Amino acid sequence: MYKIAVIPGDGIGKEVMEATLHVLEALDVEFDYTFANAGDEYKEISGVALPQETIDIVKKSKACLFGAAGETAADVIVKLRQELDLYVNLRPVKSYIGTKSLFHDLDFVIVRENTEGLYIGLEEETEEGATALRVITRKASERICRFAFDYAKKTGRDKVTAVHKANVLKKTDGLFKEIFYKVAEDFSDIKTDDRYVDATAMFFITNPRMFDVIVTTNLFGDILSDEGAGLVGGLGLIPSANIGENTGIFEPVHGSAPRHAGKGTANPSAMILSAVMMLDYLGENDAARKVENALIKVLSESKVVTKDLEGNASTMEMAQEIKNKIEK
Ligand code: NAI
Ligand code: MG
Repeated sequence: MYKIAVIPGDGIGKEVMEATLHVLEALDVEFDYTFANAGDEYKEISGVALPQETIDIVKKSKACLFGAAGETAADVIVKLRQELDLYVNLRPVKSYIGTKSLFHDLDFVIVRENTEGLYIGLEEETEEGATALRVITRKASERICRFAFDYAKKTGRDKVTAVHKANVLKKTDGLFKEIFYKVAEDFSDIKTDDRYVDATAMFFITNPRMFDVIVTTNLFGDILSDEGAGLVGGLGLIPSANIGENTGIFEPVHGSAPRHAGKGTANPSAMILSAVMMLDYLGENDAARKVENALIKVLSESKVVTKDLEGNASTMEMAQEIKNKIEK
């Protein structure tokens, strides 16, 4: 029995969460869900977007499923990442048949450092304009690189690529690159290389099959993971994980999509694939593959799929179809 915090949030977040919990019912794995409040709607009634109670519920859980927040996203998900020190942002770039992926056979993962770099929030106005501080620490670099190699080892991937700009950012990315190769010494069975971020952005388009696991700093990871999402077709499909030492939050990359909310037409795949990442994180790899394979079948048949996939099924109809296809 796994203790799971569930934060549906706003808009389509609530709809894709309901669909996902419905699909998970088909598994032999038992979950003990605690529902928690956060987001725009909760702020309207209570005055706060992320109550302390919700933070505590997530802290006490083995993992958390998060739908989406609206305008309060920065106060909710960004704050949760900081409060829980979720230093890894994991974004798979995987193509599925039946989607608008630019390549049919992509399968690589971006491991983004989630706590420092240019997003540390140290900006100031100066006489000439403004400056932002880019912070790279030994501790954060070491733990993110170690996570990337451990992840590669655990998932049977054989190469880790560090992405940086050490030729220009000599001190900060110089340190990141140095630590990457030092950590690599503990993983002699895994191939390593490193690339500049600008060249990497180009290779995503010309030759993305060259990548297996990418590890990179915060801003570069943010940009490259959206480019990766663009490669494999559409926000309705892209999951993510935020992982720390004690827990993880699993969420679709998309937001609350207010224009689609309340219509029951949102694609539940991104949220369902986020739950697949949660199952893998919990070590429930068989269950994860069952859900993923059922989704692959539904996507490749392209019959009971939502509007963004050129079908006319509702969120719950697509979820039901996936649930029906889960092997017993
Ligand atoms: P969004 O991801 O909510 O929606 C952008 C567009 O993508 C939608 O209009 C829709 O066409 C498509 N889309 C997204 N998810 C889909 C799904 N499951 N099925 C089908 N189509 C889908 O991003 P937007 O419009 O920039 O932001 C809307 C709100 O969401 C804002 O208030 C923003 O702050 C918030 N947001 C929250 C995030 C979070 O909670 N992690 C992340 C991104 C945005
Ligand atoms: Mg982003």
